[in-house]
Amino acid sequence: MKKLMLVLSLIVCIFSFAVVSCKKTSTSSTSYTPTCSSVKSYSIDARPIIQSSCVGCHSSYSTYSQVSASASSIRSSIVNGTMPKGSTLTSAQKDNIVCWIDAGAPNN
Ligand code: HEC
Repeated sequence: MKKLMLVLSLIVCIFSFAVVSCKKTSTSSTSYTPTCSSVKSYSIDARPIIQSSCVGCHSSYSTYSQVSASASSIRSSIVNGTMPKGSTLTSAQKDNIVCWIDAGAPNN
């Protein structure tokens, strides 16, 4: 009986360790760090990607004032990879939007 308890608690230990380490890996691998090497423009860099990748589901991201008002939630959804739902952006596309937001989301 003692042996069984020992084996059981060992299994529980291993299981909870696996769950914790899985969680750790998934959070670190889904957070994207942008490389902002050049100045990004709303009309040239950010807007076309938002139009083609987001507006189909979010008609509320159609204008500059709508996008700039939601800039921080747009940024986190891209960086943590939850958006665009059902597809992915390339690193260059993420940089275009995230670096534009990090520059203060100017109307340029
Ligand atoms: C296929 C449809 C679809 C596309 C494309 C899409 N979204 Fe979403 N988005 C959703 C849905 C549905 C939700 C509601 C939450 C959920 O179900 O995950 C959501 C939620 C969000 C939220 C959270 C809103 C809140 O209330 O906090 C943000 C921010 C967001 N989307 C940004 C974006 C951005 C930026 C893009 C483009 C890069 C994008 N989405 C593309 C469907 C989409």
